[in-house]
Amino acid sequence: MAILVTGGAGFIGSNFVLDWLRLGLGPVVNLDKLTYAGNLKNLASVSDHPDYHFVRADICDRDAVQAVLTEHDVMAVINFAAETHVDRSIHSPGEFLRTNVQGMFALLEAVRGYVDGLGGDGDAFRLINVSTDEVYGSLGPNDPPFTETSGYYPSSPYSASKAAADHLCRSYFVTYGLPIVTTNCSNNYGPYQFPEKLIPLMIRNATRGDELPVYGDGGNVRDWLFVGDHCAAIREVLECGRVGETYNIGGNAERTNIEVVEALCDILADFADGGGSSRYRDLITFVTDRPGHDRRYAVDACKIRDELGWEPTESFESGLRRTVKWYLDNEAWIQSVETGEYREWLDANYELRASTS
Ligand code: NAD
Ligand code: TYD
Repeated sequence: MAILVTGGAGFIGSNFVLDWLRLGLGPVVNLDKLTYAGNLKNLASVSDHPDYHFVRADICDRDAVQAVLTEHDVMAVINFAAETHVDRSIHSPGEFLRTNVQGMFALLEAVRGYVDGLGGDGDAFRLINVSTDEVYGSLGPNDPPFTETSGYYPSSPYSASKAAADHLCRSYFVTYGLPIVTTNCSNNYGPYQFPEKLIPLMIRNATRGDELPVYGDGGNVRDWLFVGDHCAAIREVLECGRVGETYNIGGNAERTNIEVVEALCDILADFADGGGSSRYRDLITFVTDRPGHDRRYAVDACKIRDELGWEPTESFESGLRRTVKWYLDNEAWIQSVETGEYREWLDANYELRASTS
């Protein structure tokens, strides 16, 4: 019996596949469209593994997904396939609606057709809908963290499309009894994250002596979780999560963006031979803010801790150091993902952001 990981060539999906195979948990099929964010180099170390199989396909293609489910006797789907970058969703929202909403719909229909055909064996099937805390919207400075019963107030086309997918999943559980569990996780960081997101972008720019573009006043808060801890949480949910439920996942590590960037500068200085942190901190440039920029996210992850016994194992400080080391050791990986498309994105996103420092 195999699991199907959709979007397994991206950041979290590839970490999930690598951990799954390292732990010897059984066959895994990775179905990925290979957008700019999907990179098979992430999985080069397992490409010949007997339990690993790759299929290039789009989750919007219901027939292709259903054929994979049948061919590989799949007993669980973990969906990571999505468009994920908020700034890109502001520039080009259409692709977010296509993959995150229509793609989720096609995936749900494929799973529904497949599970119907399993008869009684379908009881053990699971679909894990990997979602985000961004669906809950923005918190004020003194608000309590998001719980699983917080209302949905998405602010960006990205978070709105993920919210729509969560609602579709819930409706397929309630209406058709499809065995779905949703997870809403905070910001991840770690190896193989595409260098358009805050932490890898800052490491990349700092090592090249480029500006470190901090949006607005740098006071926006995110709750950071090391990617390996997120993958462990998903494995727990897959094994023991209750169908129809949602589980919040977070790192108990709220930091302002400027705190994150300054911490990165300090770690980079520790690894560099001389020069001190100011060599990197002097690159920090405050730039025009993101429209609709959520001020604060924070996650109450008590439910998954109390029900499933999951807690993060990596502190933000140790995880960030590990991440910086990985990027410094894997400069070739960064270069390999810096396609023409990536450079066009940097031009489109940052050239219009005037410095406000
Ligand atoms: P990513 O952008 O790094 O990777 C997305 C992957 O999906 C890529 O491999 C891409 O090729 C693939 N993909 C995109 N469209 C596809 C399609 N139509 N069909 C098949 N494959 C497609 O994303 P990530 O950061 O790894 O996020 C994975 C999931 O986790 C997403 O659903 C995201 O919303 C969620 N999430 C991410 C974070 C985070 O901080 N990165 C936090 C919480 C939740
Ligand atoms: P990001 O990594 O895009 O994740 P998300 O928007 O999903 O939380 O951004 C994290 C935070 O960092 C967010 O508040 C926006 C900010 N940010 C910058 O200040 N500068 C940048 O160049 C980027 C990409 C993000």
